[in-house]
Amino acid sequence: MKNIIVGLLGFGNVGSGFAAILKENMNQITNTLGCSIIIKKVLVRNLAKYKNAPIPEELFTTNADEIITDPEIDIVVELIGGIRPAYDYIKKALEHHKHVVTANKAVIALYGRELFDLADKSCVSIKFEGSVGGGIPIIATLTKSLAANKIEEIVGIINGTTNYILTRMEESGMNFEDALSEAQAKGFAEANPTSDIEGEDAAYKLAILTHVAFGVEVSPGEIPYIGIRQISEKEIAYAKQLGYKIKLLATVRRNNGSLDIHVHPTLVPFEHPLASVNYENNALYIKGSAVGELMLYGKGAGSLPTGSAVISDVMEAAGIIQNRIQTKNSFASRYQFTPKAISSGASAYYIRLQVTDQPGVLGSITTAFGRNGVSLESVVQRGRGGSSVPLIFVTHETPWDKLEAALEEIKKLNSVEEVASILMVHKQSQ
Ligand code: HSE
Repeated sequence: MKNIIVGLLGFGNVGSGFAAILKENMNQITNTLGCSIIIKKVLVRNLAKYKNAPIPEELFTTNADEIITDPEIDIVVELIGGIRPAYDYIKKALEHHKHVVTANKAVIALYGRELFDLADKSCVSIKFEGSVGGGIPIIATLTKSLAANKIEEIVGIINGTTNYILTRMEESGMNFEDALSEAQAKGFAEANPTSDIEGEDAAYKLAILTHVAFGVEVSPGEIPYIGIRQISEKEIAYAKQLGYKIKLLATVRRNNGSLDIHVHPTLVPFEHPLASVNYENNALYIKGSAVGELMLYGKGAGSLPTGSAVISDVMEAAGIIQNRIQTKNSFASRYQFTPKAISSGASAYYIRLQVTDQPGVLGSITTAFGRNGVSLESVVQRGRGGSSVPLIFVTHETPWDKLEAALEEIKKLNSVEEVASILMVHKQSQ
């Protein structure tokens, strides 16, 4: 059988992990495929940096065209990240009938549909397992293992930085800034962590999952997302007293023909499997029409975990090349699901108000909730007497506009000093 020739774009964290796994497990990979995978060229920006790299110096080039247009190269592996020039390289590689493997969440979230269609037109495959959940095989699970299911719901912890910070705040009582500094010192948060902290990174990954699981193209900008910067150690302690952990959840679910989708800090009951996902780990909780509920758990980033995902994609593409059989890349035609609406949907909420502790306050607040159709599950007061005691409400499932109207009324009450926190509460879907 013909050996499979690969060109690598980028040799950073994931690229070097990919090369290391390929070298370490060469025999196993060759025995599985019946042929070898050979790296022919590697695109880098600065050749001088790679004099002592673990692969021969002469493989490195600064010219992308030496890879993308080389007729001998079967698979282009894009691991440079960012939108440009990664998108241009991927597009050109597909136009040159190369199979493409990428771990680039931004490119797939923003241009997935176009690239899947282009791959179909060019009769090649585009694979992106490493773009969501690092080493967790979520794309393969959705597209292969669960291919005959209707996916009802995906709820994920898909950002390791924020999960590490929330875990450390919860277990040590440290504040957000200290937990962030610790995450940076340990390499679990980037020097510029804005996209992770604000929930944007999770929104990109959720856009990809939505496309793959439902065939629905949602741009990351359309997904309502809120990050964790405003979560205080006090909030985490209150939630804990009520039996919850606070997690940044990325959620997409069918709801009567519509799609509910959001990224939001959410209270997760201790007994829910997602509550035990700690530190930098990721997890995806999936509900399929036939399989029921399942959860995947593992490392959501890192050189070897993401390298593992990338190499499995390369092996998939190699199998397609060898057997010359392939399923379609496009997801839209697969599921034929057009949601009636896309919105953040209804949720149960945790509301913390800071109020003056005096007779009648609770009554006026619950009346405002009731008048606006917001039903309450529980009310807890912490502390007593004087000003500024926290009053915590957990609502039943309610649409956001009803809650917003109730809170507008509540804010105007003299005894209410502040609406200090609004968080979602995860409820098991039926
Ligand atoms: N920065 C991401 C995280 C990993 O913290 O999970 C890469 O998507």
